[in-house]
Amino acid sequence: MIDGAPAVDIRDLRFAYRAGREVLRIDTLAIPRESRVFLHGPSGSGKTTLLGVIAGVLIPTAGRVRVLGEEPAALPPSRRDAFRGVHLGYLFQLFNLIPWLSVTENIALPCRLHPERAARLGDTSIDDAAQQLARDLGLGDMLDTPVTELSVGQQQRVAAARALIGSPELVIADEPTSALDADRRDQFIELLFAQCARANATLLFVSHDLALGNRFDQVLSLPDLNLAPVP
Ligand SMILES: Nc1ncnc2c1ncn2[C@@H]1O[C@H](COP(=O)(O)OP(=O)(O)OP(=O)(O)O)[C@@H](O)[C@H]1O
Ligand SMILES: [Mg+2]
Repeated sequence: MIDGAPAVDIRDLRFAYRAGREVLRIDTLAIPRESRVFLHGPSGSGKTTLLGVIAGVLIPTAGRVRVLGEEPAALPPSRRDAFRGVHLGYLFQLFNLIPWLSVTENIALPCRLHPERAARLGDTSIDDAAQQLARDLGLGDMLDTPVTELSVGQQQRVAAARALIGSPELVIADEPTSALDADRRDQFIELLFAQCARANATLLFVSHDLALGNRFDQVLSLPDLNLAPVP
């Protein structure tokens, strides 16, 4: 990781799941550090795919994607996974919670897997940090509850806390408010903003709901980022 490098810096990106069928064609995209960026676009426009490329889960077909000054695709797979685990918080569209773990254990997971991320907690233990985040997100009375017993909105908040623990520099949230009612959605976004500001993190937030865009520093539309009609 390079201090001062943009959070995300994309040049000449092409991505296809299958040869000849490009899903992404983005010539340039720069996301400054500590900004809050809103990415929208119709279903199937490639939002989740772009997040996967940024997270280094998907490897570009062509072009270069730098994240915090590092090029995940150029790292060997084990270092790529470690880079993601230490520096990124990923809030998945389908949560991806571990069903046999409790609320606290799910939240604690990135720090348990990545000691470098746990080191950022300073004197606070992993358990204490996970419980504090759970309380901040209104989950204080269900710390030991199996996540299979939670409502969808509660699961979403566990997923958010897991993305935020250990103050990753880049937080990626894929439609994190889709399961929430309007009040809870607003609370959730404010909480995400506050946690990212506290950690000096960059937030890349994906949603269909364009009405949310005016709360962000930058609004990106995936159809506009893509250079030409995708075949
Ligand atoms: N694993 C995959 N294999 C092949 N094609 C895929 C795969 N995942 C997504 N696609 C295709 O890539 C395109 C972009 O999908 P993606 O999931 O990135 O869209 P999205 O903008 O996140 O949509 P949504 O708003 O519905 O979540 C779609 O045409 C989809 O069919
Ligand atoms: Mg998606």
